[in-house]
Amino acid sequence: MTYPSAYWNQKYDQKTNPGWDIGYPSPTFTDYIDQLTDKNIRILVIGAGFGHEVEYLYRKGFIKTYYLDFSAFAVNAFKHRVPDFPLSHILIEDFFEHLEKYDLILEQTFFCSIPRFQRWNYVKKVHELLYDNGKLVGLLFNYDFGKEHPPFGGSKEEYCLLFKSCFNFMYFETAYNSIKPRKGREFFINLIKKNCLCQKKTVL
Ligand SMILES: C[S@@+](CC[C@H](N)C(=O)[O-])C[C@H]1O[C@@H](n2cnc3c(N)ncnc32)[C@H](O)[C@@H]1O
Repeated sequence: MTYPSAYWNQKYDQKTNPGWDIGYPSPTFTDYIDQLTDKNIRILVIGAGFGHEVEYLYRKGFIKTYYLDFSAFAVNAFKHRVPDFPLSHILIEDFFEHLEKYDLILEQTFFCSIPRFQRWNYVKKVHELLYDNGKLVGLLFNYDFGKEHPPFGGSKEEYCLLFKSCFNFMYFETAYNSIKPRKGREFFINLIKKNCLCQKKTVL
């Protein structure tokens, strides 16, 4: 089963803090962002939710930052909190339908929200959305939640197998700067787009 926007809207609308939202930009991302020097790069935050990292990037002067999420609830919450963020940079659409190019794509708890059978489509889509030598940077859970619904985790072996034909691995290790509840439980990944034929491959 895939999880449509209605599923996510309903999760957000339960009036409790959705388990995934940490309420501020993750230190893993702020540490990474703080060492970026080129403020002109095009950055896409996928499944951005309440968009704390998007706001951080924008406030830091990365003016070509884009927010993407198909949940109206999450988008409205983001718009309300960051009213000066350019509307044309808020992409309310299905990630798998998105067509643009970026230098950098940021991932946090979006990969784990999609069903396993869609993972190869995720890899191909990220690859397609990146310019040559573009990067996918983010966090992936390093264990399996053992559930029939999101979040879906995995192992390093599984992830390496999935990404290796389309990306070179600059970094793929347990994050040292995760938030306390996720300490030791997520990989920090920094993957560079390979020139490959992965668009043509069928589902793994
Ligand atoms: C688990 S939440 C993570 C939100 C945010 N990244 C965070 O860490 O707080 C997953 C988000 O991905 C969005 N999402 C799921 N599937 C999507 C898709 N196919 N296209 C666009 N957004 C999607 C959901 O609406 C939701 O906001």
